[in-house]
Amino acid sequence: MRVITIASGKGGVGKTTVTANLAIALAKLGKSVTVIDGNITTPHLAMQFGMFYAPTTLNDLLKEKSANIIDALYFHESGVRIIPGSLNVRDLQGVDILNLKRIVKEIPYSDFVLIDSAPGIGREAVAAMQSASEILYVTNPNIAAASDIIKISEVAKEIGLKQIGIVLNMVKRKIYELSASEIEEITGIPVISSIPYSNLIEQSYLLGKTVIEQKPYSKESIEFMKLAAYIAGEEYKVPLSSYLHRIKDFFSAFF
Ligand SMILES: Nc1ncnc2c1ncn2[C@@H]1O[C@H](COP(=O)(O)OP(=O)(O)OP(=O)(O)O)[C@@H](O)[C@H]1O
Ligand SMILES: [Mg+2]
Repeated sequence: MRVITIASGKGGVGKTTVTANLAIALAKLGKSVTVIDGNITTPHLAMQFGMFYAPTTLNDLLKEKSANIIDALYFHESGVRIIPGSLNVRDLQGVDILNLKRIVKEIPYSDFVLIDSAPGIGREAVAAMQSASEILYVTNPNIAAASDIIKISEVAKEIGLKQIGIVLNMVKRKIYELSASEIEEITGIPVISSIPYSNLIEQSYLLGKTVIEQKPYSKESIEFMKLAAYIAGEEYKVPLSSYLHRIKDFFSAFF
C-alpha cells in the first residue's frame, strides 16, 4: 500500500483537483485507490466526486475510537473509495488530527491511498505528512507558490518522506509565468507533470465531476493519465482515439 500526501505551501493551487483526478486516473490503470480528505477545516475532496453529504465522516473517526472506518468509506462509480471530511463546523469539536496516522493504517488494502492535505506546514498538513510515506507537491507557475515548496519540502525531508515530484498546475503559458525548469532550479525537485489552466477544471466543483470524467480525452485528462502512469511506474501510450475525440469536441462546439 503506497500512501501519498498531496501537499502545497500555498493554498488554492489545485491539491484537491489533482488528488481527485489522479485517483480516477490510477483506477483507470486498474489500481485500487482510497482518497482521504486530510484538510478537515476546509474539506472539498468529496465535492469533486459529487458528494455533498455523508452520514459518517473522517471527523467521526478522528473523534471516537469506536467509529468504524467501513462506515466512513464511500464508493464512487470510478471504483475510487472516498473518506470525506465533514462540512459542518460543529463536527470539528473534539477532533484530533493526530489520529489520522492510525486511521490510515486501518484502511482496507488499497494499492494507493491519497491524502488531500491542507496547505502549508500547520498541524493538519504535518499530520498528513506523518501519515504518509511519499509526498507529491502541487504548485502554480508563480514565485510565491513555488518558493513555498522549499519550506514544505524541508519538513517532508525531516519526516523522511520520499519526494515524488512537483505537479505544475494552472499553466497558461504566459510570458510572466515561471517555467518548469525555473521551478526545478528554485526547489531542486523535478516537475513531473504540467496541467494547463482549464475552464473544464474550473467548473468541476460546480458539476461535482472531475475533468477526467467530463472529458477523458481532453489534454488535461491525458496529463492526469500520464501522471498516474508515472507514479505507478508504468508506461502510458496516449490512445490514438483521443485526437479524434478532441477534433469531434472542437467541431461539436459550433453545432
Ligand atoms: N488547472 C486548473 N485550471 C483551472 N482551474 C483550476 C485548475 N486547478 C484547480 N482549479 C480551480 O482552482 C480552485 C482551487 O482548486 P483546489 O480546490 O483543487 O485547490 P486546493 O489547493 O485544494 O485548495 P486548498 O488549499 O483550499 O485546499 C478551484 O476552483 C479549482 O476548480
Ligand atoms: Mg483542497
